[in-house]
Amino acid sequence: MREPIDIIETFIASGYRPQARIPGNRVFLTDNTASTLVWVEGRVVIELYLLFPNTVTEPHAHPFINQMVFISGDPVGLKVEDGRVRHKVFTDADIGVMGRFMPIGDRHGFNTGPLGAVFYNIQIWPENVTDPRSAAIEFLGPSMGPLHDALRAQ
Ligand SMILES: [Fe+2]
Repeated sequence: MREPIDIIETFIASGYRPQARIPGNRVFLTDNTASTLVWVEGRVVIELYLLFPNTVTEPHAHPFINQMVFISGDPVGLKVEDGRVRHKVFTDADIGVMGRFMPIGDRHGFNTGPLGAVFYNIQIWPENVTDPRSAAIEFLGPSMGPLHDALRAQ
C-alpha cells in the first residue's frame, strides 16, 4: 500500500490524470460548486472542484485531513485560526503547489471573483476509504443553499 503523499505526488506528476469509473462517482452539484472524484486509493480521495464565479463559501470543516491544489481563477481563501480569520489571495505562484495539510476540523472557506476557481481538493482519511464521497457531502458547516441541502440529504 502506497503512502498518501506518494499517491498525491504521483497524481500531480501524471498531469492530474483521472481514474475512470470510480464507484459511486458523479458530478456533485451545490449552489457554489461542481465537483467530481478523480482519484481514490488507500486513504486518499482527490476531487476536482469548480468554484462558481462571485460566490462566498462560509467557513466549514471536513472529517478528513484536507488540502487544496490551486489550478486557476481568482479565489481568496480564508482560514479560521485561534478565532481569527486570515485571508489568502491565490496567484500564479500558487498553481500546482501542495499547501499546508489542514488537520481534521480546521475551518476554512472561499470567496471567488468573476473568474471563479479551479482546485483539486485532497482528502486523507484516517482509514482506507471504501466509500469515497465528495467533500461537499462530508461537509461540517452552513449550507451553501438549496442545491447543497439536496446533495447532503441524498
Ligand atoms: Fe472545504
